Amino acid sequence: MLKEKIEKALNEQINKELYSAYLYLSMSAYAETLGMPGTANWMKIQAQEELSHANKFFDYVHERDGKVTLMPIDAVPNEFGSVKQMFDKVLEHEQYITASINNLVDIAIEINDHASRSMLMWFVDEQVEEEASAQAIIDQLNMVEGKGHGLFMIDKELGSRTFTDPTQEA
Ligand SMILES: [Fe+2]
Ligand SMILES: [Fe+2]
Repeated sequence: MLKEKIEKALNEQINKELYSAYLYLSMSAYAETLGMPGTANWMKIQAQEELSHANKFFDYVHERDGKVTLMPIDAVPNEFGSVKQMFDKVLEHEQYITASINNLVDIAIEINDHASRSMLMWFVDEQVEEEASAQAIIDQLNMVEGKGHGLFMIDKELGSRTFTDPTQEA
């Protein structure tokens, strides 16, 4: 049985993951308005990944005989400036999520909930990847400094991303 403190924090995390999906879906729509279909594809897959994160927490709460309480999802911005500014926002958001996951680990340790701590280690590793992939794209964008041909190539590359559910990987 989950203790109330961690159950509440896990429910808040489900909301944050769903907000993340909503945010990246909005970024996908915005990329379409910029005429960058590859970036739109990358963001849409990013949104799917966030849904899989939400589902992992959702299933875990039930596995521990806890109660899932879905809360309203905040509205997201609909404008993100340049592609570079948008990916800066992605990194910033992932850093915020990493801090939130770390806080969950702190709670699990504080209440001696070893099962939650073990489950959360998956997310600790996942966040390293999330921040690294956003940083790698920012590095590429810095290299091309907003120039047309470079942006075209990056967009093309981002268009090749396909969805594999990260929670189902070995
Ligand atoms: Fe996530
Ligand atoms: Fe994420």
